[in-house]
Amino acid sequence: MVGVTNNGQGAFALGWTLDDLRSDIPVLRRKVYLNTGTLGASPQTVTVAFVRAYEQWQVEGPGWPEAYEARRAGMDAVRARVGLFLGAASDRIAFAENISQAINWVAGGLRFSDGDEVIVGTHEHPANRYPWRALERMGRVRVVLWEMDGDDDALMEDLSRLITPHTRLVTVSHVLQTNGRVLPAERIAQFCRSAGVRLFLDGAQAVGQLRVDLSAIDPDFYGWNGHKWLLGPVGTAGLYARPDAFGELGLLPAGGGSAEHDLAGRYEDDVPWRETPRRLEVGTRNWPLYEGLARAIDLFGEIGWGQAFAASASLVEQFLAGLPPGVEEIAVPRRAAMVTVRVGDLPAKQALEDLYRHGQVIVRAVEELQPQGAVRFSFAPFNTPKDVERALEALGEVVRRV
Ligand SMILES: Cc1ncc(COP(=O)(O)O)c(C=O)c1O
Repeated sequence: MVGVTNNGQGAFALGWTLDDLRSDIPVLRRKVYLNTGTLGASPQTVTVAFVRAYEQWQVEGPGWPEAYEARRAGMDAVRARVGLFLGAASDRIAFAENISQAINWVAGGLRFSDGDEVIVGTHEHPANRYPWRALERMGRVRVVLWEMDGDDDALMEDLSRLITPHTRLVTVSHVLQTNGRVLPAERIAQFCRSAGVRLFLDGAQAVGQLRVDLSAIDPDFYGWNGHKWLLGPVGTAGLYARPDAFGELGLLPAGGGSAEHDLAGRYEDDVPWRETPRRLEVGTRNWPLYEGLARAIDLFGEIGWGQAFAASASLVEQFLAGLPPGVEEIAVPRRAAMVTVRVGDLPAKQALEDLYRHGQVIVRAVEELQPQGAVRFSFAPFNTPKDVERALEALGEVVRRV
């Protein structure tokens, strides 16, 4: 490491390495943390960044207009960072508390007509299923399921078969949370554009797990969060919306922040409303959280994304090569840094508990993959070959006892 080291007191290093990152993550001192797909383990430097910003705000006086406005303005600096990182103009991004909120903005904001259909992938998280099912229950749309079987060509053929004159939107994950499959986002987006239907991509498992360039994918909507692979604070997420797609959303949610000058103390209804997704960021928020997110993005910038992705890829390779007999990989055409396995015929929850008992290995149970479920291992850049060895040992021990 060059420059100042992080002493846990808010002094940030320049030029961090992966080793620095590892030694700054508290959970790694005792446990094998392989569940970044659920929540990233934040390094101390990220936690310190937002706590410091929060403390500073309290010192200045949280309701002091200058302090209040400074926190809001700080969000725009972070927005610029996120825009650069995602390959999108920063004014196309709204910050949300989680991706669920971003999806609800889209589901609640699109105006549907009688008979409209929404195509939803079959491996979606409840965050990207229930809002569409809710619309269906309200009689506003019909949900059409898109199976995630076969190779990418088969996937695209299936999608084209599902499209009808009533299709309004396709919604699917960029990386499937169940098995780590990377979907051909650009092909899907291109197809949806040519078919004249809107596309929502759920990037919860993509941003930070692989390189995401929205200028190349060019989706209508893209949801992402900072609290998984970016290792940002819990409660950081956002929505990207292309201008024409954003223009199709209604005006709710609305409130403080929707209009350009809503702090001017005027109560007229004719103030100009924002025409960018920022309009969705209504009400008081824990703005300093985003200082933590900015730190997380900068940190990976210092390490180098190429190096971070390469570290994850080599851990995945090591893991797959060392799987003990009786542990079956759920194979996918293309994966990034998540691997899902069946452990003999153990129910998922049992496998998860046993892995923790035998090796303090933290993973996620994938109950969605019936009949008995499976367990998902996430290999973040901060994980080490030693973590993989410990995970493989624990797997071996668990499967021997089945
Ligand atoms: C693909 C996918 N979408 C959405 C979510 C939910 O994210 P959030 O908690 O930020 O709403 C998850 C969380 O695991 C996920 O994996």
